[in-house]
Amino acid sequence: MAISSRKLSIVGAGAVGTSAAQWAVSKNAADEIVLIDVIEGIPQGKALDLSQCAPLCGFTGKVIGTNDYADTRDSDVVIITAGLARKPGMSRDDLLAKNVEIIKSVTENVCSASPDSVIIVVTNPIDAMVYTVFKVSGFPKNRVVGMAGVLDSARYRTFLAQAIGVAPKDVTALVMGIHGDNMLPLTRLASVAGVPVEKLLSKEELDAIVKRTQQGGGEIVKHLKTGSAFSTPGLAAMEMAQSILEDKKRVLPCAAYLEGEFGIDGVFLGVPVILGKNGVEKILEFPLTEQEQDALRLSVEAVNRQVAATGL
Ligand code: LAC
Repeated sequence: MAISSRKLSIVGAGAVGTSAAQWAVSKNAADEIVLIDVIEGIPQGKALDLSQCAPLCGFTGKVIGTNDYADTRDSDVVIITAGLARKPGMSRDDLLAKNVEIIKSVTENVCSASPDSVIIVVTNPIDAMVYTVFKVSGFPKNRVVGMAGVLDSARYRTFLAQAIGVAPKDVTALVMGIHGDNMLPLTRLASVAGVPVEKLLSKEELDAIVKRTQQGGGEIVKHLKTGSAFSTPGLAAMEMAQSILEDKKRVLPCAAYLEGEFGIDGVFLGVPVILGKNGVEKILEFPLTEQEQDALRLSVEAVNRQVAATGL
């Protein structure tokens, strides 16, 4: 069911923001897509280019490029991608100090233009930036969510599918925890159309895939040298936005604010959630093994270190 006049704003017309906008156009995911950036001309030019996809892909809405938050007014969903991206040798944590200042000012602008929106945070380090948006916005926890698990799970599913030799779409797998090297790709629950991957691959093969997933972002940065991944990050953010805009109730792994779920309190961490028109409508909690709990604790410690560095 499509909700009438869905408005999506994307802050940051860099590679990820542009990718998200392109996916939104190709999926006809909003009636109005606003691309906003501080650099004059870039969002305008990119929006014009994207609007000209319409006859070819069937997009029926409009795309606006702007430097003025007034144009984002009353957005239903805002995706924040603004900030610096990683360069080779940089960890996501290295970005923290620079991006926290950018995110604070973006959040203030987003909140005054769209006080009822759901905000999806993509800027790295995601788990600390989503916390920053939550604190600065004062929004309820259901209306602030971080993108990471959808991307990390997509990488995990791709690597599993390649190793098994099956269609990636038929691989179901969940990555929980931080968007960083301590993320937790759950092998126990990964399956191909219900068949456990543990029955299809050896422990050594699975361990290698888990490691590759944990370092999946860095592997791409090493190739690109001047930036990080953008196609799948943009699509992952759009999957989340679309579930909210169309109230689809999809179950997607996202960074959500935990208050006791999985025994964790007061941090944003990747967990499976139901995404609908109210944003994070429910966190799907389930029992973890002791080993999984230990791994998740490492994620929490890493996120807490990042959050402490934000000074909030
Ligand atoms: C990655 C960046 C977006 O994982 O963090 O590719």
